[in-house]
Amino acid sequence: MADQSAPLRAPAGTHDVLWPESARWERLVAEFARRAQLGGFGLVLNPMFEDAQLFRRGIGDESDVVRKEMYEFADRGGRDVALRPEGTASVVRAFVQHRPPVPWKAWYVTPAFRYERPQAGRYKQHHQLGVEVLGTDDADVDVEVVTMAADLYGWLGLRQVELALNSMGCTRCRPAYLAALVAYLDEHRDELRDEHRDRYRANPLRVLDCKSPECRAVTDGAPRITDYLDETCSAHLARVRDGLDELGVAYRLEPRLVRGLDYYTRTTFEFSARSLTSAQNAVGGGGRYDGLAEALGGPPTPGIGFGIGIERLLLACDAEGVFAANPPPPDAFVVDVTGGAAARALCGELRRAGLGAVRAYDGRSLKAQLKQADRSGARYALIVGPEELAGDVVTARPLRAEGPQEAVARAEVGRWLAARSSTSDTQDTPGQP
Ligand code: HAM
Repeated sequence: MADQSAPLRAPAGTHDVLWPESARWERLVAEFARRAQLGGFGLVLNPMFEDAQLFRRGIGDESDVVRKEMYEFADRGGRDVALRPEGTASVVRAFVQHRPPVPWKAWYVTPAFRYERPQAGRYKQHHQLGVEVLGTDDADVDVEVVTMAADLYGWLGLRQVELALNSMGCTRCRPAYLAALVAYLDEHRDELRDEHRDRYRANPLRVLDCKSPECRAVTDGAPRITDYLDETCSAHLARVRDGLDELGVAYRLEPRLVRGLDYYTRTTFEFSARSLTSAQNAVGGGGRYDGLAEALGGPPTPGIGFGIGIERLLLACDAEGVFAANPPPPDAFVVDVTGGAAARALCGELRRAGLGAVRAYDGRSLKAQLKQADRSGARYALIVGPEELAGDVVTARPLRAEGPQEAVARAEVGRWLAARSSTSDTQDTPGQP
């Protein structure tokens, strides 16, 4: 029988994010939100679970995400539901359902669930920052979206993130390419990995996505989609490239980049971190999905977006030694050896004035409180003892710099601390741009 008193742990492949690590999540999301707003994006919130049919129709029955990785189950009412494995299908479903005016620009931050074997950078629950733009197939939007992701990596200070770009063509030009690819794979069937040998006819693009050395050797010589693009798709790709060049976003054209989700058309892209040695080094990716809204029962509506994996992004930051967890310290630690009521009043007052104030509880000794004050990272200890109480003052002791302590009139403490506050200068800008 299971030990009822054994401590429970988070499921394998999931993580608790605790302070101070969570401080950089906060900062990352706040910066992403700020940038999204500058680009005209609004926040969208969707359910964490949907009718499983949404992902089958949206992401594709043949994709690994749907075939092998979906958290799909019958709920208590017998409905077939799935936890979202990504954000795009739900955002487009919401678009189809509510029909907001186009172009519709949405951003999100969301957990995503994929039943994968956990390893470095690959989790059963990960988190994504993403954007989607619906209602235009203007190539300038592709440039905007790719640049927005590239700029975020730059802001974090990441220098070893590479962008691969491709076009997957459209429903008009892709069939000829797929036919050529299947014909080529027919000739090399025996050299493919077992899992592809019997499946490549159903979805030959999956083979291009396979990172195994056997399949790589075969696909090295495979026909390239970029040689099969029709005039419109070629012109689209050319304009995307022009735009990226103009904005100084470096990329490599990668005709094998097909990505793992079946909804992509035309522009596809992926950012990978050279600093991450594991196979899981994609720190973001996305592309166009001009047929997705229609596949979900909506009007024909082109769209494009990206998703950035937060955990992997932060692993890449660690690997490059940038964007450290650096939570802003409180302005003051109030030390009260008169019973706690003075700390209660002063902390309340300071926080209402927008200042960071923390304190000890449970009537701890002066020594213990001072130790805690030091550990808190606060700039000042504001000490209230019987003498201060009698004299209506607070003793302010600098904790982070040399300097004398001084007696500050109780009524003046807020103003005195505000003049020395760190709260306003903690939002330093890490990298560029
Ligand atoms: P995706 O490439 O499947 O695209 O995922 C986006 C990012 O999420 C990846 O680049 C990676 O950083 C992270 N990621 C994916 N799976 C895991 C995992 N198991 N563990 C940790 N991180 C992971 C999408 O999801 C598309 N919805 C992106 C998109 C938006 N395309 C158009 N619009």
